[in-house]
This record gives sequence, C-alpha cells and structure tokens, in this order.
Amino acid sequence: MDRIRIVGGNRLNGIIPISGAKNAALPLMIASLLTDGTLTLENLPRLADVSLLVRILGNHGVDYTIEGKRAGDSLETGQTVHLAARQIVDTTAPYDLVSRMRASFWVLAPLVARMGVAKVSLPGGCAIGTRPVDLLIMAMERLGAQIDIENGYAVARAPKGLKGAEIAFPKVTVGGTHTALMAASLANGTTVIHNAAREPEIVDLAECLGKMGARIRGAGTSVIEIDGVPRLGGARHAVLPDRIETGTYAMAVAMTGGDVLLQGARADLLEAALETVRQTGASVTETNEGLRVYRNGAGIAPVDVTTAPFPGFPTDLQAQLMALVTRAEGTSRITETIFENRFMHVSELSRFGAHIRLDGDSAIIEGVKTLKGAPVMATDLRASVSLVIAALAAEGETMVNRVYHLDRGFERLESKLSRCGAEIERIVAAG
Ligand code: EPZ
Repeated sequence: MDRIRIVGGNRLNGIIPISGAKNAALPLMIASLLTDGTLTLENLPRLADVSLLVRILGNHGVDYTIEGKRAGDSLETGQTVHLAARQIVDTTAPYDLVSRMRASFWVLAPLVARMGVAKVSLPGGCAIGTRPVDLLIMAMERLGAQIDIENGYAVARAPKGLKGAEIAFPKVTVGGTHTALMAASLANGTTVIHNAAREPEIVDLAECLGKMGARIRGAGTSVIEIDGVPRLGGARHAVLPDRIETGTYAMAVAMTGGDVLLQGARADLLEAALETVRQTGASVTETNEGLRVYRNGAGIAPVDVTTAPFPGFPTDLQAQLMALVTRAEGTSRITETIFENRFMHVSELSRFGAHIRLDGDSAIIEGVKTLKGAPVMATDLRASVSLVIAALAAEGETMVNRVYHLDRGFERLESKLSRCGAEIERIVAAG
C-alpha cells in the first residue's frame, strides 16, 4: 500500500488549482441512469471514487468515454466525460461494489424511476458512523415504490411508475434529497420536498437535471418542488468546484503560514468555513481567479465551532479544522452534530503531541506550541487529510499510511502541495 512521507515546517506559497467536487460528481454521474441520452460532464475530478462509480454504472449498462485531450489541456484541467445509458442491462447493484462506496446506493432512485424495479445492496456502516438509509427508502416509498429488504438488499418495485408526493424529511439528508430529486423528476405529477438539504451539490444536481429536461423549483432552499416529466434527455454540465478541497487547503495555509491562491475556488460555497479560517487569524480574500489565503508569522487563534448542514460549518471540514487548532494559542471546542462517530482522527492527532479531550459530541483542543512528526493512519478520507495538515506543520518526519483514503477524495494531493513548497512525497508500494 502506498504511503505519503511529509517533513513539516515549510510555509506554503503559490497556486493550488481546485478540482471538481467529488460529492457533486458522484450524483451527477448517477443521474446518467435517468436517460437514454448522453450526459456530458466537464471538470470531473480524477479520483478513486469516480473510477469505482464508473465500474458500478458500467454494470448497469452505462457506456463511459473520456473526451480526447485538447490543446491547452493539462492535469490541472478536469476531465470531460460522456455517460450514456442507452439500455439498462442490469437493475441489481451488488454488495461487493455498494459496500465499497456508500453513495452508490443512490442508483436505487434512477433505476426504479426508469425501469420500475431495482435491487440494491444495503451499504452497511462505515468508519464515521452507522449511516442508515431509512430516509432514502422512506422517500422512495412516498413516491409509490414498494420496498422490501431481502437478504441484505433493498428490493424496490414500482411497476406502474412513480407518483408525485409530499416528502417531509425529519432531518436534513443530502443523499435523501438527491434520491428524491432524481426519482421525482421522472414521477407522474408534482413532488414537494420539505426540509430538503441546501448543499451546493444539491443545487448542482438540480441544475444538471434541469438541463436534461426536469422541472425543478427551489433547489438551494429547504422546499423543492418538482413537476415530473415522462422522459429526460442528454445534457452537458460542468461539475462545480470542490468546497471541501478548498476549505482543506485554506486550513493547510492557515496552519503553515504563507500565501496561496486557490484557483477556481468559490467563496459562496463555503462562507461559514472561510469565516472560521479568518477567526484563526488567516486572511481570505476573493480575487478574479479564486480565493487568496494568507497568514504571516502571527499565531493561530482558537475557535468554537459546531458542524451543521449547509450553510453551516461542514462536517467534512471538521477533522481538518481540528488539526489546525491543535497549534492555537488557547483552547478550542469543536462539536460534531452530523455523524456520531466522526472523531477517529483524535487519537491519531494525539500521536503528533496534540492535546485533545472528548466530551460527548464535542472535542476540546488545548493548543500546543509544537507538533512532532509520527507514523499515522486514518479510517476515512477527511480524517486522513487532517493528518496531512498536522504533518505539514510538525517538526520532523511523518509517514501517513493507508493513502487510498486520500486518493478517494483528493486529486494529486502531494503534487499540489509540493508545488507550493511542502516537502511531501508518495512512496509507492512495491509489487
Ligand atoms: C453526504 O453523505 C456526503 N457524501 C458526505 O461526505 C457528507 O459528510 C454528508 O453528506 C453530510 O454533509 C456524499 O455526498 C457522497 P446525509 P450522506 O444523508 O448523503 C442521517 C465525504 O467525506 N441519515 O446528509 O450519506 C445520517 O446518519 C462524505 O465526502 C439518516 O438518519 O449524508 C447523518 O447523521 C462523508 N437516515 C445525517 O442524516 C438516512 O436515511 C446526514 O447524512 C440518511 C441519513
């Protein structure tokens, strides 16, 4: 297994291009199942999760082609790909694929909407919590699907098609909202989603569905209305920039000091997180090209932050923020309200010499003057990258193990950071 070796202490200076958002790319790719037309996605990031989803969709009959390179293209430019599900050849998503990436459960909605039947493995738990899918199933049932749980699979049937309905989510769910949006787009009649997730990735999916012919109003607010249409067509859509990658590198610069342009980043996608980065003492300004993050030699100020659905502080940046404030001048508190078990990074950060105590759903972080490099590993991708942030500022060498977590969600991480002056390299496993 590959590892990443980091020697801390260098400031970051330069340009980091921000890739297309993983968490928008995945539902957009899944939306290709809704039509026999061709969905062309621009700015698709090169990530392990994207490759895995290509395999999963291929199993259902989606043809995937990468558009040839054009003059001026580089690794910095995302890929343009074509997805075409002319025929659905298999409506089953097997356990061995779904268990490797939870978001693949979302294929349930377009398969039932288009084919009237789907059999999708339940994804099971994962490193950040139990992560049930009851609300996704509830949404499909509200739309008229009959769902049975058989041998670890959700078997959904709607032989006469789906029917528009009122769906009220008791808690905000991104996957539930993606599911309801995709299914309702091909349902007969009008659907109203109450307490919908407002994440930018929801808006991106709704915009793409709109280009495919769906009739959606209110995406980005907590009430979304969808008038179902009998069929959707192909479309061309560019994946929005990754707000979690943006916030991660902003926190890395706030940690090391320096001056970095996050090229292509959009401040409106992560205002709450940027405000927190400013509170720690870094300056963040918008430029024509993206976001400039800057911190001089001044210390890091502590923060008190609670994760919340958008527009609140994202759970997907909680671990990175915790790494940053391990070196704050004072005590910080970070409260996690989205996932019950998303503190796996605490014990690994402690290996750098961080002082962190857990108190229910809060972590109390007493800042220390210096961190010291250590061998570390993590069990999910945001936790893994928090270890990279700590390592960039730690004295001496850190070896980050289980790098495949990073490859799931961060495109060319070591090259983006080393170009800005970090001492970071991938050690490729032999064989
Ligand atoms: C999405 O997961 C993201 N994944 C997650 O990013 C992100 O952390 C999460 O939204 C919250 O922002 C993708 O977009 C691929 P939820 P999702 O449904 O949709 C509970 C990353 O690192 N819930 O919004 O699975 C759930 O347990 C990943 O990129 C139910 O109770 O999250 C959680 O407490 C990790 N029943 C809350 O709702 C359900 O049926 C929010 O989860 C569904 C969810």
